[in-house]
Formats: sequence, C-alpha cells, structure tokens
Amino acid sequence: MAPRGGPVSLEPAQLDPADYFAALQGGSQAERVFHGARVALLKAALPSPSGRVLEIGAGSGGIAVPLAEAGHNVTAVEVGFEHLARLRDYAMDRGLAIPVVQADGRRLPFAEGTFDVVILASVVHLAAQPGPLLREAERVCADGGTLLVAGPWRHHPKTNRLIKTILRGGRAPETKTQPFSKDLVRRYLGASELVRRDRDYAMGYDVTVWRRLARS
Ligand SMILES: C[S@@+](CC[C@H](N)C(=O)[O-])C[C@H]1O[C@@H](n2cnc3c(N)ncnc32)[C@H](O)[C@@H]1O
Repeated sequence: MAPRGGPVSLEPAQLDPADYFAALQGGSQAERVFHGARVALLKAALPSPSGRVLEIGAGSGGIAVPLAEAGHNVTAVEVGFEHLARLRDYAMDRGLAIPVVQADGRRLPFAEGTFDVVILASVVHLAAQPGPLLREAERVCADGGTLLVAGPWRHHPKTNRLIKTILRGGRAPETKTQPFSKDLVRRYLGASELVRRDRDYAMGYDVTVWRRLARS
C-alpha cells in the first residue's frame, strides 16, 4: 500500500538498524532474554480477543511475528525498506501472511478508528518528536480500543548495561534517546486514559496500556 501524502523520509538517526533483530538471529543470550521479556509483556498486555492489531515501527518483525504466530491479526507499519524486507522474509519463513505497509507512523494511510489495538514498541523513546507518532496512533485506534506503548526503562541499571553491551557489539550505532516513561506518553495521548503499566523489573522493560476514549 502506498504511503499517504507521498514518499516517506525520516532523518537517518530515527532509523535504528539494530531494532532487536539480532536478538532473534543468533544474538547473545542476554539479548535473547531481553527480547523474550519484551514479547512476553506485550503478549500479556493484549486484550482478548485482540481484534485488528497495528504495530507502528515494526522493524524486522521482532514483535509483529511472534504476535501473529500467537494468532493475532497483526498489520505491520515500518518506514525503513531494509527492515521491511527482513520482516517479510521472517514472516514468510514462519508461514505467516502479515500485511506489511511502508509508511511513516506520523502520517498513516488508514482511516480514523481502523484498529482495535495499536502498538508502539521501542519507537517513542527514539523519536525526536514523539507527539506526531502518538497522536497518529490515537487517530487510527477505535473508540474504546487499546494503545500499547512500550520502551526500555532507561533508569534501570540492568537495561543500561545491556544497551551498552549491545552498542559495544557494534550492531547499533549510538542513537539519541530520551528516557521512556508513562509521563512522556501521557504528554501526547490527549484522548486516552492509562489503564495500567506492566514492567519487567528484571529486564527493565516498560509497557503502558491506554484506553482510547470515545470520540464525541
Ligand atoms: C528499535 S526499533 C523497534 C522495532 C520493533 N517495534 C521491536 O520492538 O522490536 C524502532 C523501529 O521504528 C522505526 N521507526 C522509527 N520512526 C518511525 C516512523 N516515524 N514511522 C515508522 N517507523 C518508524 C525504525 O525504522 C525502527 O525499525
């Protein structure tokens, strides 16, 4: 599907070449454990039934693929061509047909209220301006739908160490990040209320669960 509003471009710093793909493809034990914790938290946070699920900034499919494997009806949006190609290959290897859309999460080619669940995992804290991403996530989320916004809990010493290890391994250039927090998310989700927050204390990953309020 063609992106709305013409070609998509992002500043290179916003494209994270690591996107945890290494965690799935022969990464270190630490990376696999960290990734497993993220997937488990997000799976547990999904409503049942989950309905139509959108992941924005799906990278190479580290979250979208396991969710589709678990039976969720996931559509993946990603702006990076290389990530998309890896996501397609990864899904195909698993025999999964995941609709994959190349688009900028700040201008999505979907009508208002299209999805029952919208996921932003490890994206918001990397964005120079999280506002447009979060507001667009809210726009495409149905009334009463769920927004899952997740990120590494940067103040957690273990997370900091793990991220430094991954960075030292040369797979990810240092990206400018801001600490992920529910307050960061709350600042921009004007039409949603916080339902709960799930954290993996051992691994330092944070999932915030929001309910999209009804449009008046
Ligand atoms: C750290 S990766 C996370 C990938 C996946 N969500 C996960 O948790 O494994 C961040 C991804 O967000 C993508 N991204 C960043 N800004 C975006 C935007 N405005 N629209 C779509 N994708 C974006 C990047 O290209 C990258 O693949």
